[in-house]
Amino acid sequence: MYISKSSTFVLLVSSLCLAVLPVKSSSGCGYDACNLGDPNKLNVHIVPHTHDDVGWLKTVDQYYYGARNNIQHAGVQYILDSVIHSLEENPDRRFIYVEIAFFWRWWNQQTNDTRNKVKNFVNQGRLEFISGGWCMNDEASTHYNSIIDQHSLGAEFLRDQFGECARPKIGWQIDPFGHSREQASLFAQMGFDGLFFGRADYQDIDKRTETKTRELIWKASANLDRRSWLFTGVLPNGYSPPGSFCYDIFCDDPPIMDDPRLHDYNVPERVETFIKAAHDEASSYATNHIIMTMGSDFQYENANQWYKNLDKLMKYVNAQQTNGSDVNVFYSTPSCYLYALNKVGRAWTSKTDDFFPYAHHPHGFWTGYFTSRPALKRYERLSNNILQVTRQLNAFSKANLRSSIFPLNEAMGIAQHHDAVSGTEKQEVAFDYAMRLSQGIDAAVDVINKAYDKILPLDSQTPPSGPQFLCQLVNISECLPIEGQERFTLILWNPTVHTISHHVRVPVTKDYTVRDPTGHVIVAEMIPISESTQKIPGRKSFAVNQLVFKAILPALGFSTYYFEIKATEKNNNEKQVVITQHSECILQNEYLRVEIDSQGNLNKITNLKKKISVPFSNQGFYWYGSFPGNNSGSEFQASGAYIFRPISSNPEPVSSKRSITCIKGQNVQSATIVFNNWASQEISLYDDAKMVEVEWTVGPIPVDDNIGKEIILRYDTDIQSESKFYTDANGREVLERTRDYRPTWNYSKVELISGNYYPINSRIWIKESNRQLTVLTDRSEGGASIQDGSIEVMLHRRTFYDDALGVDEPLNETAFGAGLVVRGKHLLIIESPATSALYHRVASQRFYMNPLATYALPPLPYADYSTTYRQTWSALQTDLPLNVHLLTFDQIDAKKYLIRVENYFELNEDDTYSHPVIVDLQKLFQSQGVISDIAEMILTANLRITDMKRLEWITNNNRSSKVDVKKDISLKDLNILLNPMEIRTFLVTVE
Ligand SMILES: *[C@@H]1O[C@H](CO)[C@@H](O)[C@H](O)[C@H]1NC(C)=O
Ligand SMILES: *[C@@H]1O[C@H](CO)[C@@H](O)[C@H](O)[C@H]1NC(C)=O
Ligand SMILES: [Zn+2]
Repeated sequence: MYISKSSTFVLLVSSLCLAVLPVKSSSGCGYDACNLGDPNKLNVHIVPHTHDDVGWLKTVDQYYYGARNNIQHAGVQYILDSVIHSLEENPDRRFIYVEIAFFWRWWNQQTNDTRNKVKNFVNQGRLEFISGGWCMNDEASTHYNSIIDQHSLGAEFLRDQFGECARPKIGWQIDPFGHSREQASLFAQMGFDGLFFGRADYQDIDKRTETKTRELIWKASANLDRRSWLFTGVLPNGYSPPGSFCYDIFCDDPPIMDDPRLHDYNVPERVETFIKAAHDEASSYATNHIIMTMGSDFQYENANQWYKNLDKLMKYVNAQQTNGSDVNVFYSTPSCYLYALNKVGRAWTSKTDDFFPYAHHPHGFWTGYFTSRPALKRYERLSNNILQVTRQLNAFSKANLRSSIFPLNEAMGIAQHHDAVSGTEKQEVAFDYAMRLSQGIDAAVDVINKAYDKILPLDSQTPPSGPQFLCQLVNISECLPIEGQERFTLILWNPTVHTISHHVRVPVTKDYTVRDPTGHVIVAEMIPISESTQKIPGRKSFAVNQLVFKAILPALGFSTYYFEIKATEKNNNEKQVVITQHSECILQNEYLRVEIDSQGNLNKITNLKKKISVPFSNQGFYWYGSFPGNNSGSEFQASGAYIFRPISSNPEPVSSKRSITCIKGQNVQSATIVFNNWASQEISLYDDAKMVEVEWTVGPIPVDDNIGKEIILRYDTDIQSESKFYTDANGREVLERTRDYRPTWNYSKVELISGNYYPINSRIWIKESNRQLTVLTDRSEGGASIQDGSIEVMLHRRTFYDDALGVDEPLNETAFGAGLVVRGKHLLIIESPATSALYHRVASQRFYMNPLATYALPPLPYADYSTTYRQTWSALQTDLPLNVHLLTFDQIDAKKYLIRVENYFELNEDDTYSHPVIVDLQKLFQSQGVISDIAEMILTANLRITDMKRLEWITNNNRSSKVDVKKDISLKDLNILLNPMEIRTFLVTVE
């Protein structure tokens, strides 16, 4: 359809001189290219844009090509083709683009001519990249490590192809369903000047509209002060155009019919309606500038239709100025709108809380997606673990295989999308995300192998030790390639900068002796694999036992454990493992005592050293019935992929009885508590553990009663929590939550349960003066404290109804012909509030950066193996301080590295660790060489930190957002200081 217009384009194109443009900054882009309007008029910034979901109802590639248009008509390649043509037609026209996953796909297919045209538009500020991540990431279920990575991936592409003119300066989170404070803080650290989004709670929006505070300064960190401040605007109309002004092929609004000789001439009416729309909008905003988002989902496939009408509309509206109209309308971009607001020079209100949870009507709380697709949420988190380890191995082996890590990096970038890890995509698309991660992991395993091929051999003549492989199903105690083998090795790579003790469970069909890297045979106990595990659908393993042993792993390095089948079946360990059933089970080590009665009730956990006891009046699985509804009005809102709406506020216990098996070994003591045939937990205490592990297994969720179910694990204690609970944002800072309360508006509560749910990315706690119960999670989940003393975490969901927000499917995950079974872990910490941070901070970093286990079948017997291959290695001579985390270690080329180091403690959390800490960066490069050049960068590594100049904003109490420009790091002093919650990013060259 748009191709028929190409004859016009060809003429225009050929009249332009298409010299190859330098890929660097020109004064024509950025704020310099902004129209700031007329100070005496109402300035309407027209922002043409398209919202291109990186997968949702179709896969990312289907969206790119415009395949499967029967599902949803959408083809991003045509959008970009079409927009570029339209920009050529009129130099006033502007466009913004967000999702680099799509732009990258398109760019790869363009000729140099087209690329040069695009570079020209970018250098003139007419095509502006906004946000510039690989996707527009979800904010509730994403982890900060991956938010940073996905933005860095987009930023790197933009910098390489376009230079400084393409550096994103604005966050553009128009569609995500609630907004995290950490996201805003990270944006500020990426050098962004502002953030715009479309969705906020309807009560919040009402109040902000009334008080003209839809634009504000978000103080996005309790630790980073003004470095985290971010101007934030709630867009006027979601991200849609004002009513009756949509000119897309998807819309039916009247075009501008401007030839009076023709029928239906409508200019006066259109102009009047537009001027009224502008005044209406202006009435809820504080300045004489307003923004109109002219576009929506996958719009601009025929950009001409939009631009042709906008050109005319703007011309006729502005013509009314001679008749006294105060409306001044022009093409703009979000950054130019932001810049205009900045130039107004007023003071803005501020806020310190976040924008969770989001409700669009009284029964419509978007809190279900905090948990939706829990298996995908875990797979995404695990994939990040593998990605970071692969980068480290690539760097420390000097394998220089960065491009082979790209597939996993890209898959992770896509998985951060607000319909990906959020769980709000169609089932087919969820499978596609998982497949991408899986293929990315396969590519990463190749890198891991090439890295170990370099690291393991003790001399260069030695052949590789046999391929390393992952056993990705060890969470259901399955590792088929090692089953029945005479010998195998297990290498554990510890990605943290601290020596750790780590318990490993290896599913086996035979008994083995296990040797540590020094050749000592260590205690490895045969522990039976529970029946609940053995009957998980799809499990193929014959293993009924697992070997449990303790590994001590060096910082940023590995240890190899060598398994050799035992000659006789006689097992000395076995005697030490005591198994009882239906009787009381006390798990105890020197730190903790866990009391479980013969009925399978967890009654009490005592921290023996601190003499703190937390009795549980109840602990176990419950379910909420998912509200069935046809979504025809708020009261008929169904629970679905996005929305959590329980039928009743009283969840049902999944069973009235439980059975308990108690297993006591030397390395681990555990209680397997089976509630019914679809819900069980294994509570474990390892010998040296200072926290209790709860491994939960839920599914197939029964649906034979035709009721959708949302399964929670509840921990009911006597802690006097006084309506308060605490949840983290994206795995970093923790926010205080108060039941049935919102800090910035008078909350009228309707949904007693779902209105109190918040995202838990890594932790939730309740506390009183000297006791705190913290629950750490292995993936993002939703949770709340519905009663004082209680924590509940939603683990899994299966609903019968679609919630009418577009996905058009119930959330009904199945596998192997039954409802999907999901398994995961919680870690419970019982401490005083003053000592809790030490445990939850350290443990949550290790939880997401677990040692990576790779197995191999070495042909050599131990004696030969041990003289041929290195069995342990560390990149560090000594551990780094406990409050330091190595967030990124990415080798860019033979000599260059991108690194991020972080102090992951908050202020005032811990007497010892909530303080600035010094790291000698050279220590990280001991095995790589001497640092010969170093530059500190902004968080996304696309600008030197000394060049970061953010706009200055003033808050109501007359405080300026201005911060001192950071001094550059000097080669003479590589000792850097990390303040609490500070992440620092460096480009390092090593000789
Ligand atoms: C396109 O530009 C690149 C980089 O300038 C150059 O290497 C390549 O040869 C060009 N391709 C064509 C077909 O001109
Ligand atoms: C859920 O999935 C099961 C198994 O595939 C199927 O039998 C059932 O009809 C589905 N329910 C809904 C509401 O789609
Ligand atoms: Zn979207």
